[in-house]
Amino acid sequence: MTTAIVIDSRPRERQQAMDALRQAGLSGATGLDFTIANTAHLREAAPAFVFVAFEEPHQRALQAIEQAAAVCPDSVVVAYSSDTSVAAFQAAVRAGARFMLESPLSPAELGRVLNLHTRKAAAPAEPLLRGRVIAVVGQKGGIGKTTISTNLAAALAGEAHSSTVIVDFDTNFGDVGLAFDVHGDYTAGDLASGLDSLDRESFKDSLVLHESGAYVLPAPRHVGDWLHVEPEQLEALVDAAASMFDHVIIDTPGAFNDTVAAALALADHAFIVTSLEVTSIKNTALLLDLLKEEEYPEERILVIVNNTSPDPGVTAMDVAHGLNAPSVWEVKFDNDLRHGTQVGRPAATGKDKSAGAQSLRALALRIATSPDQIDRRAAVRGQASQNTAQLADRLRKAMTRVPLGMAPNLRLKGNAA
Ligand SMILES: Nc1ncnc2c1ncn2[C@@H]1O[C@H](COP(=O)(O)OP(=O)(O)OP(=O)(O)O)[C@@H](O)[C@H]1O
Ligand SMILES: [Mg+2]
Repeated sequence: MTTAIVIDSRPRERQQAMDALRQAGLSGATGLDFTIANTAHLREAAPAFVFVAFEEPHQRALQAIEQAAAVCPDSVVVAYSSDTSVAAFQAAVRAGARFMLESPLSPAELGRVLNLHTRKAAAPAEPLLRGRVIAVVGQKGGIGKTTISTNLAAALAGEAHSSTVIVDFDTNFGDVGLAFDVHGDYTAGDLASGLDSLDRESFKDSLVLHESGAYVLPAPRHVGDWLHVEPEQLEALVDAAASMFDHVIIDTPGAFNDTVAAALALADHAFIVTSLEVTSIKNTALLLDLLKEEEYPEERILVIVNNTSPDPGVTAMDVAHGLNAPSVWEVKFDNDLRHGTQVGRPAATGKDKSAGAQSLRALALRIATSPDQIDRRAAVRGQASQNTAQLADRLRKAMTRVPLGMAPNLRLKGNAA
């Protein structure tokens, strides 16, 4: 049985690749040039791996990757290249490669890929290359979006030992950098517009590492700096980040705009934050309605009820009923969360036993270990108050008064997935 096919037009490099494969423990590889006969070879051999040299002319390599992915869908397609730029990486992955390795291939790197493949055989369904993207959104200022996104990032990196980057998409006055007390040389705007000139190493070097282990990419300091950044560039930025980190957390502003739409479209999970203020709950209901209209998959949505005041008058259970949301997570009022932001050390960074920090650490662990289960459990316990019916009634009235379709620019790409 053919275990691997190596497609490379350069005989010496092709031989080197096959030698490296042998050293990594994979024998029986076959070498091919880029020819029209490859489709038949691939179909007949149905190898476990197809390695494609990704060198100029790129078009030829991209066609070979696409062809391999289409003809033998069970094979793991691996590109290898001397070009380590993010652009090359993305092109190969979009064509259907699961990995892009640096050429010449090293047996150690190959061993890692082979290992991952073995793990995948035991637990299929997870894409290997893309980290999980979480957009933290909410239709109001001051409801705790940044508190939640920064604490989650810190807990994912710390408690959950998961490589994590937090990207500040707040186009108004992003304060993720402040919440972590870090000052980077580069902002999300810089990296989005300069992505083509970055390779993976310089991309990572442009981020700031916080003591929690989370990497931070702050927002531009001036609102106007966002003006020249296109939503497509932000999407490419998140794609690039997701190719390097297990988790990409996106913090967003409190008003709906193209940036929030881009974040939602890219996200594997949309965490919709609401406070217990009736105005925030109403806006959340509107956003949920809008997402429903856009056929945004319900299983990607988690509503986070955040207690920003100690005595809100309604309970998270009331909100869960009022919104009819399938998945709800509650964060208790917690002065340590407030204090953590003030001193630039999110409370969930350490072992803080306060209620808010604990619940965000628990959510982080949940995301890291069983993300698909989040939607299956409404994590709100406790009582509904006597205000449940009243709240539901007020929401109903507010919803009929306010017209839907409040965001004409909403472009939720990729929702069919
Ligand atoms: N669970 C909580 N307990 C106590 N205080 C909280 C809690 N969540 C958030 N806060 C406090 O509420 C204030 C607003 O929080 P935050 O800045 O995270 O909101 P935001 O939604 O990101 O606001 P903006 O839209 O202006 O960026 C902060 O002072 C924060 O410390
Ligand atoms: Mg904020």
